[in-house]
Amino acid sequence: MKLRMIKEAYEKYILPKLLDKCCSTKPVNYQRKKIVPHAKGTILEIGIGSGLNIPFYKKSKVEKIYGLDPSPELCEMAKQAAIKNEIDINFLLNGAEEIKLASNSIDTVLLTYTLCTIPNPFDALREIKRVMKSDGKILFCEHGVAPDDKVIEWQNRINPLWGKLFGGCNINRNIPNILLESGFKINDLEQMYLPSTPKIVGYNYWGNAEI
Ligand SMILES: C[S@@+](CC[C@H](N)C(=O)[O-])C[C@H]1O[C@@H](n2cnc3c(N)ncnc32)[C@H](O)[C@@H]1O
Repeated sequence: MKLRMIKEAYEKYILPKLLDKCCSTKPVNYQRKKIVPHAKGTILEIGIGSGLNIPFYKKSKVEKIYGLDPSPELCEMAKQAAIKNEIDINFLLNGAEEIKLASNSIDTVLLTYTLCTIPNPFDALREIKRVMKSDGKILFCEHGVAPDDKVIEWQNRINPLWGKLFGGCNINRNIPNILLESGFKINDLEQMYLPSTPKIVGYNYWGNAEI
């Protein structure tokens, strides 16, 4: 009982600020700059978090943005970021396993540092595929399993504790494989360790994917 109360308080008062801090380092923001400005048309941002991508949208390309996230605290932070950046966002307080949008309605799905955390990314990607137009694109930038055995060993060792501290984040997921196994075709895949970032959390994959 006490443990559950502590967990709830941690998730409500500490975790949102911690995620906001950890996801807004200089190298991570540099990654956002490579990806987010390509979003166009009707956009669905999955796991919008505290809204750290909002300043990077190119307003002239945007018709409509849906921002989905199951955390009320993070959605509230993203709402403030939207107001500050004068961008209109329609919030969906939900997990990506059930997206309350019509099939075949989204031009761009934006996924940054979220496939690591969604409990079942395959269920989410099935829903994402449903709402995407047939010529739609996923723009992604995610951290995941590293290419070096020693780093992988540490990623696997630390992953269970990491998940408990960072809202269910997994540091050892193979992001390209998850996209491919979900039936997406990946274009322009790039990958590297981010500078000034611990290797176990710093291996990034980015690019775009289509159905
Ligand atoms: C590490 S944060 C990244 C937030 C944001 N995408 C960014 O780039 O800063 C992971 C996000 O995934 C969200 N999340 C957790 N479970 C989810 C789910 N089932 N569906 C969609 N998002 C989820 C969390 O609430 C959190 O906002």
